[in-house]
This record gives sequence, structure tokens and C-alpha cells, in this order.
Amino acid sequence: MKDIITIDGPSGAGKSTVSRLLAKRLGYSYLDTGAIYRAVAWKVNEENIDPDDGEGLKKILEAINITFNGDRIIVNGTDVSQHIRTSEIGELSSKVSAKPIVREHLYTMQREIGLKGKVVIEGRDTGTVIFPEAENKFFLDASFEERGRRRYKELKAQGAETTLKDTINDIKNRDNRDSTRQSAPLKRTHDMVYIDTSSLTVEEVISKIMDSLKTLTKFKSFGNV
Ligand code: DC
Repeated sequence: MKDIITIDGPSGAGKSTVSRLLAKRLGYSYLDTGAIYRAVAWKVNEENIDPDDGEGLKKILEAINITFNGDRIIVNGTDVSQHIRTSEIGELSSKVSAKPIVREHLYTMQREIGLKGKVVIEGRDTGTVIFPEAENKFFLDASFEERGRRRYKELKAQGAETTLKDTINDIKNRDNRDSTRQSAPLKRTHDMVYIDTSSLTVEEVISKIMDSLKTLTKFKSFGNV
């Protein structure tokens, strides 16, 4: 299990940027599990299914085929990499991901990808449910204000009409839903290295992670990173 690194945390904590770069530095592959939930949400939206409609969700899950091609994510032949990044799909993915049927279905897929090894896997339950046995677990966090500011900047760059206040509120709502749901809530455990990224640059976060990988005795195989 030494070659699986899990990175959990709330949205806006910098997980994706850090995980992608970390994987590149280590020569590892990178699995963005949020993108998988977003892909399901995209399909739910396309098919006009209510996220509370269990039967509808079941049909979608039976028919959905999610694959990765480098950085691209493909759903039943359609490249949805861009489509899944909107606020609407973010919101819907948070609702859809609270459904046990969805999590059960995606569990196997994530295990299979991760077990190939040499992977940075990032999400909300990667160190608690998907790879609880992984030895290299991190939890990235940041203040609501900082996470809101980062998200607001992204949304503005995409031309979205929103305010910082609304963006922070959306983040609070999403956090609340992701952390209080019954099924695999976002949770920090004692065996995760906690990093508050509020006042750190991406490089500083990466360097903290690299230091942990080198110094903790269980990470001896990372001596040459
Ligand atoms: O990280 P993200 O914003 O792309 O994730 C979108 C949603 O998917 C998030 O609100 C919660 C859900 N998610 C999850 O429940 N479990 C994961 N491992 C990853 C994401």
C-alpha cells in the first residue's frame, strides 16, 4: 500500500491542483474522484432525473460508462471534461454523492484504478472508505473565506455572475452536506497528515507533503523523491 497517496478535504482546499502536481512530480497517476461523481451528476442532469429518484439513479448507474483518457473524462463516448466543472454540476454532484447506491457503485471502480498502484487519489472519502489501509494519507483544509475567494476567482474567470458572499455561502452549504451525510461523510482521521493551506502557496503545500513522505518511517520508500 506504500504507493497509494490519499488526499481528502473540502472543496476549495486546493486538493486538485496539489494532487495533480504531486502526481506529476512523483511520476504517479492521478485520480480525481470528484470528477467521477460530477460525471454521474452530468448524466443525471442530461437524463433529467431527480437526484431523489432511486429507480432513475439505478438505471443511470447500470448504463453509465466512465473512462479516463489522460486528463479527459469520457462518459459513454462524450468528453465531459468541461461540462462537469460548472457550479450547477458541482451542486448536483454533492446531492448525488450523498446517495448510498451511487457510492456503492463507484467504490469498485475507484478501488480497481487505485490498486494499480503509484497513484495519488483525491476526494472526500479516499483515506476513510476507498483506501483506509493506505499509509500515506493527507487532509487539506482552508478557511471558508479563503476557499470562497479561490472559488470566486475561478468562477469569475469563467465569466459567471456571482458575488463573493454567495460563493462563500455555497461552499458552506456544500461542506455541510458533504460532512453530515450518512454515507461516507467527509472526515478527518488521526492517521491523516493535516495541512491548512489558507496561507500557503501550492509549492509550499507540495513541499510539506514531500517532507512528510520522506520523514515518516513508514514512507521509507520515498527516500529519493
Ligand atoms: O471535489 P469536487 O468538488 O469535484 O467534488 C464534487 C462533489 O462530489 C462533492 O461535493 C462531494 C462529492 N465527492 C464525494 O462525495 N466523494 C469523493 N471522494 C469526491 C467527491
